Amino acid sequence: MLKTAESFLTDAGHRLSRVVYSEEEIARRVHEMGAEISTSFGADDRLLVLGLLKGSFIFLADLVRQIRLPLQVDFLVASSYGTEKRSSGDVKLLYDSSADVEGRSVILVEDIVDSGNTIRRLTPVIEARRPKSLDVCALLHKRVTRLEKEPRWIGFDCPQEFLVGYGLDYSENFRHLPFIASLADR
Ligand code: IMP
Ligand code: MG
Repeated sequence: MLKTAESFLTDAGHRLSRVVYSEEEIARRVHEMGAEISTSFGADDRLLVLGLLKGSFIFLADLVRQIRLPLQVDFLVASSYGTEKRSSGDVKLLYDSSADVEGRSVILVEDIVDSGNTIRRLTPVIEARRPKSLDVCALLHKRVTRLEKEPRWIGFDCPQEFLVGYGLDYSENFRHLPFIASLADR
């Protein structure tokens, strides 16, 4: 694994300090989360899995393959980060899903909850479309904030560091890493 991590160390001139979650740990946890979700709904819930792009694209792809229920997938694009490491607080909905939400069980899939601004901004938007239920599924949670609506499923309570890989980026780099790593301070 170290060898794999080292082969990514020079991406965009930034360095990774350490692997936080290995490919194997992530796969194990995503498998468990898929099993939990599968037992939480029935086939008549018309499950809609809404991924928040871009960060959730790998997590969502792995997660839905572990859910043993009929479901549909769609995406939203929200942005608040730009190229900075801290949330700007101004969450913009850059692309909206056209999926029919009314009366359906919706799972909003987020890569990581940091300030919570993205979830706070987007859950009312989806609630207004009158789903049967709305739950958040987040791979990572930094626990820096308390949300009115905490995610129902969380992969890992993660360190309060800037993490990259498995979909998470720093200035659009590192999304392709198969593991999650902490970015070194330069
Ligand atoms: P929040 O709105 O501050 O909760 O942040 C949510 C979004 O910020 C996530 O969907 C990520 O795209 C991004 N983000 C937050 N923390 C990190 C991190 O440690 N690494 C990479 N992206 C992050
Ligand atoms: Mg991002």
